[in-house]
Amino acid sequence: MNSPLHIPVLKNEVINHLNIKPEGVYLDCTLGAGGHSKEILKKLNSSGLLIGLDADETTLKPTHTRFSVFGSSQFSLHHANFLYFPDILKKLNIKKVNGIILDLGLSSMELDQKDRGFSFQNIGPLDMRYNKKNSTTASELLNKISLIDLKKIVKLYGEEKNYSKIAKSIKQYVKNDKMKTTLDLKEAVLEVIPKKKSNKTLARVFQSIRIAVNDELNILKETLKNIKKFLKRNGRVVIISYHSLEDRIVKQFFIKHSKVCICPREIPICVCKKDPPFRIISRKPILPNNTEILKNRKSRSAKMRVVERT
Ligand SMILES: C[S@@+](CC[C@H](N)C(=O)[O-])C[C@H]1O[C@@H](n2cnc3c(N)ncnc32)[C@H](O)[C@@H]1O
Repeated sequence: MNSPLHIPVLKNEVINHLNIKPEGVYLDCTLGAGGHSKEILKKLNSSGLLIGLDADETTLKPTHTRFSVFGSSQFSLHHANFLYFPDILKKLNIKKVNGIILDLGLSSMELDQKDRGFSFQNIGPLDMRYNKKNSTTASELLNKISLIDLKKIVKLYGEEKNYSKIAKSIKQYVKNDKMKTTLDLKEAVLEVIPKKKSNKTLARVFQSIRIAVNDELNILKETLKNIKKFLKRNGRVVIISYHSLEDRIVKQFFIKHSKVCICPREIPICVCKKDPPFRIISRKPILPNNTEILKNRKSRSAKMRVVERT
């Protein structure tokens, strides 16, 4: 892996908000280069454990090597989609953890590697899978999807207003057997959009297809449902998202599951006796400051939200 190492976003904020107990068990659902995990490991004593998951197998070995300064019994790294974190915990015989972090999306190593096909700024195969063992690449998806479904993807996951023109152009490229590389996709988009702001449109279209290839939003929703069962009392969940679709899902989930009373307003005394599983720690999302954004431009869209298990 020759790309520069991923710089962990909101590193201090993540660590402060996880309230790390030295003997605790922490689950990093998006290990990446291990930037956040490494900081967690520094705070653990010999009874503590860090469990790291990543859907991208290529990230595990270098991160494992980077962690060799810590005792091997201090961490346990797994090639797994975070959707399956309950299975990993079961395998490790762990019922509940003290804290969970999800730093969503892709790492800068993945973005920079040409052969992964995530970036319109590189030329490479149109792949976009986090897990190379999954069956459908972006190219395969675009080749088999209907025009109607493609329009939906670009509109909903890319929040792109020119979705119709773009989807039609992509399908025209498919018809001409020309949808195999990032350059093919880039050209199909550029053909039908105004040149001004084209980078923003390209970013949105590439994002929309990446979300579809990896089923990112459904996986996030399903994973959130499982978290309360596996988090100890007063344990914290920290989630960093990088676009409004993810942040909306996280925000709405946290609000819904931290509501103390859901009685209709007309009822003067609470009858629902609702005992919410979470309490919100950060009402407003926590954002990187200007210094961090200057050092790491990729952090600029980050939004971090935190809840605590009641
Ligand atoms: C933003 S990076 C995390 C960077 C990490 N926090 C660090 O400091 O190095 C996101 C990572 O999550 C992984 N990922 C994305 N979706 C995943 C999923 N559903 N399950 C497991 N890993 C996932 C990506 O492969 C990537 O390595």
